[in-house]
Amino acid sequence: MGFFDLAKQRYSVRAYKPDAVEDEKLKQVLSAGALAPTACNLQPFRLVVVRTREHLDALKKLYSAPFFVQAPVVIGVYADLGTAWVRRDGKSYADVDAAIVMDHIILAATELGLGTCWIGAFDAQAARDLAGLGAGWEPVAFTPLGYPASGQPAKRRKPLEELVTYL
Ligand SMILES: Cc1cc2nc3c(=O)[nH]c(=O)nc-3n(C[C@H](O)[C@H](O)[C@H](O)COP(=O)(O)O)c2cc1C
Repeated sequence: MGFFDLAKQRYSVRAYKPDAVEDEKLKQVLSAGALAPTACNLQPFRLVVVRTREHLDALKKLYSAPFFVQAPVVIGVYADLGTAWVRRDGKSYADVDAAIVMDHIILAATELGLGTCWIGAFDAQAARDLAGLGAGWEPVAFTPLGYPASGQPAKRRKPLEELVTYL
């Protein structure tokens, strides 16, 4: 699929079939995440792959919407605060790097016919407990990964004129 079709076809999937995600597809999705650009190429992130059935209770504590645990796999992107690039004025790019990684994952999944949904409204402590990576690791984003059980709704977006400023 070309990029512009991919961008149009990606949507937040909130219903999943129980069908397994093939190992090869999972690897392709994770590899796309690993190809994401990061500030100074520091790659300050960890991808945590959670097999839903084996961690059902922990995932329900993390995010309670039923669709979250319908998919066979959940992927979390955690940022390494101690390693991420920090701009001269003190702004850390840890979240930015992790967000780009998650976007690569989500677009790669779409290309492979898989569904995803950015999850930002998770319980951060439950996310830390789940991965056990230590204090310096910030959970940034999660997504279920599985085959969609619902169709794509119409996109609702602001018109370009509201979103773009030409100087
Ligand atoms: C940073 C971020 C956090 C989000 N967090 C959630 C979330 O916690 N739960 C949820 O159902 N959707 C979440 N979404 C999905 C948005 O609601 C969705 O992307 C938006 O409504 C546009 O719809 P679309 O993804 O289908 O194009 C999040 C999206 C982003 C980018």
